[in-house]
Amino acid sequence: MTKAWTKSDWRTFPRIQMPDYPDTGALAAAEAKLSKYPPLVFAGEARKLTKSLGQVAKGEAFLLQGGDCAESFGEFGADSIRDTFRVMLQMAMVLTFGAKCPVVKVGRMAGQFAKPRSSPTETQGGLELPIYRGDIINDTAFTPEARIPNPERMLQAYTQAAASLNLLRAFSTGGYADVHHVHGWTLGFIEGENAAKYANMANRISDALDFMSAAGVNQDTAHSLSSVDFYTSHEALLLEYEEALCRTDSTTGMPVAGSGHMLWIGDRTRQPDGAHVEFLRGVQNPIGLKCGPTISAEDLKVLIGKLNPDNTPGRLTLIARFGAGKVGDHLPRLIQAVREIGAEVVWSCDPMHGNTIKSDSGYKTRPFEAVLQEVREFFAIHNAEGTYPGGVHFEMTGKDVTECTGGVRAVSDDDLSSRYHTVCDPRLNASQALELAFLVAEEISEHREKKAAA
Ligand code: PEP
Ligand code: CO
Repeated sequence: MTKAWTKSDWRTFPRIQMPDYPDTGALAAAEAKLSKYPPLVFAGEARKLTKSLGQVAKGEAFLLQGGDCAESFGEFGADSIRDTFRVMLQMAMVLTFGAKCPVVKVGRMAGQFAKPRSSPTETQGGLELPIYRGDIINDTAFTPEARIPNPERMLQAYTQAAASLNLLRAFSTGGYADVHHVHGWTLGFIEGENAAKYANMANRISDALDFMSAAGVNQDTAHSLSSVDFYTSHEALLLEYEEALCRTDSTTGMPVAGSGHMLWIGDRTRQPDGAHVEFLRGVQNPIGLKCGPTISAEDLKVLIGKLNPDNTPGRLTLIARFGAGKVGDHLPRLIQAVREIGAEVVWSCDPMHGNTIKSDSGYKTRPFEAVLQEVREFFAIHNAEGTYPGGVHFEMTGKDVTECTGGVRAVSDDDLSSRYHTVCDPRLNASQALELAFLVAEEISEHREKKAAA
């Protein structure tokens, strides 16, 4: 029996990766304001997402999670939200076709502001300053003032998240998500980007859509052709913000995080007795847990016990992020641990965070090939173990940035400086993200064929 939980209990547990606000009065004022604001999501939506992820856990659906490493106040605008939403819909459609099952769409959007960092400070030209921790905490500018954690930034993050979510909801149901538009954009990618190798699958999707129209399945007869369920997610790192937006669900009387539909625990803050695990175990939203190379099988078992004591399918998604070439060293032992305790989990693959390198030109980057290789290793191991590779988790944007190398358009090291806009980790651009979706779709359809043949 786990003990009763309150939303403030985390404060008595060891915390890491969180700022120490120098102005405690200003912090209390921001928390008081936020706790009166409306939650951004409704508990029923979080439950619906858990149910959909439960289908993923059973191998009947696939999870696509993606978006910025860190949302920023500076890049905020309708265009960037629209572009990321659009490419995620394109990816979801390609994956639906490949997987022959529903794709659960979850953006790293409308709340992905706080960042864990590997070092507490940064030195430039002999000056050492506190590290940038995401726009919800401090500012990227390299000045002492900019790096002071400012609690009022939580209010700006809330406002930006609310406006982003409002637009995402409008796009999801207002006609923008129509399958014919989405597929039209994908055909544009095939023609415009020298991506003929994906034309075969794209043409098969065209045929499927033509067939459905001919059979009388259209926007008027099938609601799902013109609207989508799109969910939001972020790393629940800044617990003052999370606590202030935590609410009691009037339907169930249970606590629910009001800051987003799905929240995850980062690889650096998953200590079984730490503050982050303590907070997240108590909210009813679906939870992600990043699993990097240092997670032990024993810790994983304890974490599963704490985070999903009732073993509800869809409650817990394990997001594996080991790095290309390392999946075989870690995933089998974690699959074994999960098996030993009979846990129901979604297995998702984050092929970004284990594949970050410094390019010759000095930029932090990720080679497309390494990202793809990690996804392939993840699928191969699940195929061998007889478990289900249930999802992918990408850092990506709908914009035409040059932050990761490779892809059909062959971004090179020398190109990185041209449009390198991220405030944190390098993201796949629209073309690289969609290309990966085609390649992942091929992996899934092979997985399905092998399973059917077995
Ligand atoms: C992230 O997803 O941006 C992140 C920091 O990941 P991880 O916790 O896996 O390092
Ligand atoms: Co990142």
